[in-house]
Amino acid sequence: MARARMARRVALPIAALGLALALGACGAASGATTASSGTGAAPASAPTLTGAAAGQVIFEQSCASCHGVGGVGQTFTMDDQSIAVPAITYSELEALYHDKYDSMVVATITTGVDEEGQPLNRMMPRWTIFSSDQMDALVAYLKTLQ
Ligand code: HEC
Repeated sequence: MARARMARRVALPIAALGLALALGACGAASGATTASSGTGAAPASAPTLTGAAAGQVIFEQSCASCHGVGGVGQTFTMDDQSIAVPAITYSELEALYHDKYDSMVVATITTGVDEEGQPLNRMMPRWTIFSSDQMDALVAYLKTLQ
């Protein structure tokens, strides 16, 4: 399965770099935080999400635009170039990370290294904006993706 992944990686054109950095900046600006007003009780219509449900919100705001809804990966065309973004379902990543899934998925998302310590393509943003609670929620959600 690592072989299929290498093929996907090679498919990324260098020309995507500029836009990827711009997209990454946008992604970094959109946090999954919820503001609380100073008026006391939270409105009944705004329950506080925890765990995988909170992770899903983060995923949909920060990841789905590239990795697709459900993390199934996608290929899209930008400036006449075909860009392949890998699937990050649990089965895909577990095949790469094995028993180090939890630590490796966090390292990959935050520092942009693969399971061999090699840097990922710069199109994948380096996500340093998430709190440890947010990262826990994101990982909990990623594990639900089949
Ligand atoms: C701007 C597009 C973009 C966004 C947004 C993005 N990614 Fe990525 N991501 C990529 C690309 C492209 C790769 C492949 C990089 C490579 O193979 O070198 C990648 C790789 C990965 C990998 C490694 C997969 C593998 O096969 O090694 C993980 C895990 C990952 N992304 C998780 C996330 C998560 C979680 C988020 C949201 C917090 C996210 N990504 C947001 C583009 C993106």
